[in-house]
Amino acid sequence: MACGYTTWKVCLLGSGIVCRSNIPVPHAGSKYFDLLQCAGALPLGHNHPIVRQAILDYVDSQLPQQCLDLATTAKTAFVQELWRWIPAPLSSTGKIQFTSPSGSDAVEAAMKLVRIATGRSTIIAFDGGYHGHTSGSLAAMGNTETKSQLKTGSLADVVFFPYPHPDKSPFGPTVTDSNVTAELCAALLETKLADPESGMTKPAGIIVECIQGEGGVVPAPREWLKRLRRMATEHDIPLIFDEVQSGFARTGTPFAFEYAGVTPDVIVMSKAVGGSMPLACIVYDEKLDKWQPGSHAGTFRGNQLALVTGARVLAHMRETRMWEHAAQMGALFRSHLVQHAAQFGIKQHIHSIRGRVSSDLWQ
Ligand SMILES: Cc1ncc(COP(=O)(O)O)c(C=O)c1O
Repeated sequence: MACGYTTWKVCLLGSGIVCRSNIPVPHAGSKYFDLLQCAGALPLGHNHPIVRQAILDYVDSQLPQQCLDLATTAKTAFVQELWRWIPAPLSSTGKIQFTSPSGSDAVEAAMKLVRIATGRSTIIAFDGGYHGHTSGSLAAMGNTETKSQLKTGSLADVVFFPYPHPDKSPFGPTVTDSNVTAELCAALLETKLADPESGMTKPAGIIVECIQGEGGVVPAPREWLKRLRRMATEHDIPLIFDEVQSGFARTGTPFAFEYAGVTPDVIVMSKAVGGSMPLACIVYDEKLDKWQPGSHAGTFRGNQLALVTGARVLAHMRETRMWEHAAQMGALFRSHLVQHAAQFGIKQHIHSIRGRVSSDLWQ
């Protein structure tokens, strides 16, 4: 953001607007707060000094910029830093796979990993989930707008279950209590998994966002996530948490899933992990490590600039406990919104305020 302008505007660009090229053109004399931050890919904002310095230092070092799979100093430093973020037990049993730098490709890798490891095919995904636009990740996406243009029916073996949306119950408008919705969502999945007549073969994996991002900022209830973890363990189904958008200090905890005190078998990471440069990877339990070396190859998986930037930005966020700042800012936004809605008499026009910043955050 350039300085010296006169007017400040809060720019909340929804991705729908971005995709349709209706992006408001900045007017001379205006200054914008970009709260979207490239859909979460710029954890410290545009052109932060830490990012700038990391890039300049690396370029000045004259070391190679792309290194495929080579073990380099930059990669080692990045992995060491990333591991400080990975909670137990994954931190002791985890393996890492770098993927092509999009979140979609990291999701592809996660789905491929669990399919190879289990020898099964079906993936369970949830209504409203967003996992990307490659064929496999799109197959797991709740939104049907892009899929329906393909006219090919099912893109891959994915079965959808209802997600516990607090104010849009998948069980219809008569269910208004979000606890009842969450209970019904969990019970339905539990019943289906246990029922040999359900028509669904044993799944290879369950993929979920602990806070749906593109689906409308919808946090999954803590108890529902705990039950999902229990079900996955009982049925021996790898649980994949897609932290592409919610990961890295954005929601009050380092990863969004930490709110529920559960750990997945696979974490999918992109966006913020590269500290604003393109980078993506998955971290997964070693028991799933059954694929052959080279099973998820790709040219741009050794971007050294992204590795050094990611390492420095992640270290900064961890040292400053930036997730606490995110929680404070979230609470501030919420309280101001509520206050202004009352002040201007527009409360009845606000359908809901969602996020993970309610008073129970630190319980
Ligand atoms: C949760 C989630 N998963 C996957 C993706 C796909 O990432 P990309 O757009 O980098 O392919 C996104 C993108 O917004 C996302 O929010």
